[in-house]
Amino acid sequence: MRSRSAAGTPPRPGSRPWRRRPFSRYALLLLALVAVGGFYAGVQSSPQADAAQGASKAQIDQGRELFQTSCASCHGINGQGTSTGPSLYGAGAAAVDFQVGTGRMPLSQPGAQAHSKAPRFTQAQIDAIAAYIQSLSGGPDIPRGVDQKYSDADLAAGGQLFRANCMQCHNFAGEGGALSNGKYAPALTTSTSTHMYEAMLTGPENMPVFSDQTLTPDEKLSIIKYVKTIKSDPNPGGHGLGRIGPVSEGLVAWLVGIGVCVVAAMWITAKKKQED
Ligand code: HEC
Ligand code: HEC
Repeated sequence: MRSRSAAGTPPRPGSRPWRRRPFSRYALLLLALVAVGGFYAGVQSSPQADAAQGASKAQIDQGRELFQTSCASCHGINGQGTSTGPSLYGAGAAAVDFQVGTGRMPLSQPGAQAHSKAPRFTQAQIDAIAAYIQSLSGGPDIPRGVDQKYSDADLAAGGQLFRANCMQCHNFAGEGGALSNGKYAPALTTSTSTHMYEAMLTGPENMPVFSDQTLTPDEKLSIIKYVKTIKSDPNPGGHGLGRIGPVSEGLVAWLVGIGVCVVAAMWITAKKKQED
């Protein structure tokens, strides 16, 4: 006999506590996996996660004032939107920094595509408006330190990702091109690395939003490195490896591996039950 019961009565098959609650063990296993996954997600550093969280009340107040004089006529007194400008709820500080920092906003001519031009505001004023919009209802924050981080990124992966995600609108050399309805995708040759990151995060006009699920922070940085490289050398060489990126690859391997382990564990348990 393999087991003893405390009262000395003969043990019933399957009466050991863990046998009676097989699902609590799965739940525990699952919980542990989620905890491990969460840990790794936390370890991955994203420029957005590094953004300074706390904006002072004075900065937000200054931003509200600037917004009400220069932006509210189109975007509404509380950023709720009007017939001449979209609601900015959820647009986030990143969209404000991009739109105002590239001189697109304040829009001079309603209806036309916003062009980039010399910004109307200083960076401190832009930060204040951004902090105000962020305080309304959140959204993507301004990514910090992009300029320092992109130089370590993977150039070959960036070229591959650029060709897969950006080239159809911005041209293979990042020179831009016409889109339908008289719109155009601008050249990327003058964009700063932070504005590039923000454009991907917020998807201005016809451009899609590339969330961190679509393109991880590392992948965004690699695209920026690629665009910065073609700016100085139109033919950077480098061989696209056909990779979907190290993080995604690792994740897939991890999920498949875990899946196999779980199925094996269930199979062994079921088999043992049959043997009893
Ligand atoms: C004359 C009207 C007008 C004014 C003034 C104006 N905007 Fe806009 N804004 C628009 C329109 C129209 C769009 C959408 C079209 C586009 O993105 O080109 C827009 C888009 C935006 C977006 C992008 C929203 C998103 O979801 O990504 C932001 C952010 C923004 N504006 C901020 C501002 C700020 C900040 C100011 C003031 C400094 C301002 N705008 C002034 C009309 C205006
Ligand atoms: C469907 C077409 C489309 C795709 C795909 C696209 N973009 Fe864009 N992109 C646009 C348009 C349109 C604008 C101009 C938006 C505006 O004027 O408000 C733009 C603007 C930009 C800007 C701002 C440039 C400036 O003038 O400062 C950057 C940077 C940018 N895109 C980068 C990218 C990157 C990187 C990718 C790939 C990850 C990408 N785009 C994919 C259409 C696209």
